[in-house]
Amino acid sequence: MLTGSRGRGILGGRYGRRAVGLLGAASVVVAMTAAGSMTPAAGAGGAQIGKDLFGTLADGTKVWRYTLTNGHGARVKIITYGGIIQTLEVPDKHGRPGNIALGFDNLADYVAKSPYFGAIIGRYGNRIAKGTFTLDGKTYHLPTNDGPNSLHGGTQGFDKRVWSATPQKSGKNVGLRLDYTSPDGEMGYPGTLKTTVTYTLTPGNSIRMDYHATTTKATVVNLTNHTYFNLAGEGSGDIYDQRLQINARNYTPVDSTLIPTGQIARVSGTPLDFTRATPIGARIRDGHPQMVIGRGYDHNFVLDRHGHGLETAARATDPRTGRILTVLTDQPGLQFYSGNFLDGTLVGTSGRMYRQGDAFCLETQHYPDSPNHANFPSTVLRPGQVYNTTTVYGFSAH
Ligand code: BGC
Repeated sequence: MLTGSRGRGILGGRYGRRAVGLLGAASVVVAMTAAGSMTPAAGAGGAQIGKDLFGTLADGTKVWRYTLTNGHGARVKIITYGGIIQTLEVPDKHGRPGNIALGFDNLADYVAKSPYFGAIIGRYGNRIAKGTFTLDGKTYHLPTNDGPNSLHGGTQGFDKRVWSATPQKSGKNVGLRLDYTSPDGEMGYPGTLKTTVTYTLTPGNSIRMDYHATTTKATVVNLTNHTYFNLAGEGSGDIYDQRLQINARNYTPVDSTLIPTGQIARVSGTPLDFTRATPIGARIRDGHPQMVIGRGYDHNFVLDRHGHGLETAARATDPRTGRILTVLTDQPGLQFYSGNFLDGTLVGTSGRMYRQGDAFCLETQHYPDSPNHANFPSTVLRPGQVYNTTTVYGFSAH
């Protein structure tokens, strides 16, 4: 078992077992190629799309990196491996751009040891208890990769697949469409799942993520994106002074393996109350049992929703740089994860090492383990139905 000196996974994971799964994947890389030449495509009003070679996998598959620039200070780099947002530059209050997303500068590290930095997560974002669920009377078994549970789609989830990319241009928007067809039975999930994720960078410094999927058999789906944000800049230290507000009066408490108990509980009177903007670090060492289980925040918030469309889920601000992140989604839940398992073993894009609390994730989603909780909104997708969801991460500064 590859575990660190304190018996934890050396990759900052909660369990050594997950570390083994991720390290196993390292063997598929033989070559990591330096970035090739940038080939800017025609833009619209200063918006541009460029493409360069990011690396090559062991089987010879080339991994491309697309750079979307909006001409208004925002630039996002996306690689075809995992549909990963490698870097995300947005302006601070002085108009100075800075990268606010954690990541690596090379493909080998993404393959060997990424804790899902910037990746598309599927087929099922978050955990499924004991890697088992029953649908229409049939029981399915998924690979477990997080203690007893299946996390983020299993050992080889969508974050480890190579997606086919098609640049998009519409008005002043630039985008990248990513397609992946997951075969029937992949990672234990039924049905061939045709999946499309489109990232769109708008002139207003928003990244819109549109998820789309269809299936050939009844299945469960819960797609999300796992960008680790640090609004003060990647590698700049912890995010404890950054303020967060989440539009959620309830959350789903978890057991010791981070599986929801099934209860929908009030946040009021607990360190999970973010109904008013609060510094992330203000209560992070609270002895509340849920905080101890998560080693900080690692919880699904039940969003206060009014309808079915895009609604504001959360807002984060950084007092130093003035950067503001607003998250809009049509999803019922939001996983707020405060980077608890980052432990100083990973070196990021700027050459700095990442420690606990150096970033936060706001993963829009259905509730964890929904297939095993009849009282949670359903994640079942049937043939003939279309899975369509949208999340927007909007950036500004003042
Ligand atoms: C989970 C954490 C996990 C992290 C990275 C988050 O979505 O909730 O428990 O450590 O992803 O793997």
